[in-house]
Amino acid sequence: MKKVAWRSPSNIALIKYWGKHGVQLPQNPSLSFTLQSSFTETQIAFAEAKGLQIDFHFEGKENEKFKQKIVNFIKSLENQDSNKYEFLKNIYLKIDSTNSFPHSVGIASSASSMSALALCLCSIEQEIKGLTFDSASFFRQASFLARLASGSACRSVYGGVTVWGETPILTDASDEYAIPFPFDLHPVFQDFRDSILIVSSSEKSVSSRAGHALMNHHPFAEVRYQQANTNLAALIDALKVGDMENFIKIVENEALTLHGLMMNSEPSFILMHPNTLKIIEKIREFRQITGLSVCFTLDAGPNVHLLYPQKEEWRIRQWIEYELSAFCENRYYIHDQVGKGAEQI
Ligand code: PMV
Repeated sequence: MKKVAWRSPSNIALIKYWGKHGVQLPQNPSLSFTLQSSFTETQIAFAEAKGLQIDFHFEGKENEKFKQKIVNFIKSLENQDSNKYEFLKNIYLKIDSTNSFPHSVGIASSASSMSALALCLCSIEQEIKGLTFDSASFFRQASFLARLASGSACRSVYGGVTVWGETPILTDASDEYAIPFPFDLHPVFQDFRDSILIVSSSEKSVSSRAGHALMNHHPFAEVRYQQANTNLAALIDALKVGDMENFIKIVENEALTLHGLMMNSEPSFILMHPNTLKIIEKIREFRQITGLSVCFTLDAGPNVHLLYPQKEEWRIRQWIEYELSAFCENRYYIHDQVGKGAEQI
């Protein structure tokens, strides 16, 4: 059997995608850092078959829940225009996937796993059709497929900073796929650090699908979508010129807005843990006392992503070890950083 394999990293949104319409289309543009050490590796061996047949192993074990997600995703491609994905109708796929980070610590793996899967499917298409896509078309197609599998996964195929979703200030940006940051990134942001503080590893009380749906009748929805566009424009400027003060202001505002929207939706969800708030308080205090450039962002969960420039790594990591880790579950945290994007392996 022929084989393809990709390693794809996770990403952390600075401008949050929250609310969708149609087939996984975002209500507002988002921007993220692609990470380096938190990744999924997926290998697919494939052969012609009668119908679609999938064997799926996650970390060496069968996983029926993940398998069903993949089957549903691949079957949904039949509804895509043209016959582009016909080749997935009669195929046997033996999929093996592993994550570099522990599965049960509350780090979402859908972005890394679905982008790795999408990249593998694009490689399989090339092999089966005997085509070679140019690199830009290949990654754009992979990002498109990853979006259909799990919205924010579309941002994980590129390294550095990625933008997904139409916005008046970026003519190339699309709701259908992500694009790499179309400007020179100020050097201070190029190897930015992200230490993920695991506050709680319990399963989230609201799924991502249900979370996005909360925006459908949210009283603040329209204002939020406008705010995301305004914040995106300001963040892009900050990333270009290295304006740390504005970067911090916007990134923290986005994280708290996301949680605010969940708190005042119907039904309401509080996904922060008391220790999330304690860490936020500590970060703001530490920043004021030391003058160091450190800030936080949050996913739709209790864990804190601590963001800081490479040059402050030593001081900040000492502080995490000696003070912040006390607020983490089992003192657990993961040091990561902005990475180079997906790689064929
Ligand atoms: O891609 P989804 O459906 O899991 O949604 C991701 C939502 C956030 O992580 C909260 C924000 C984002 O832009 O990644």
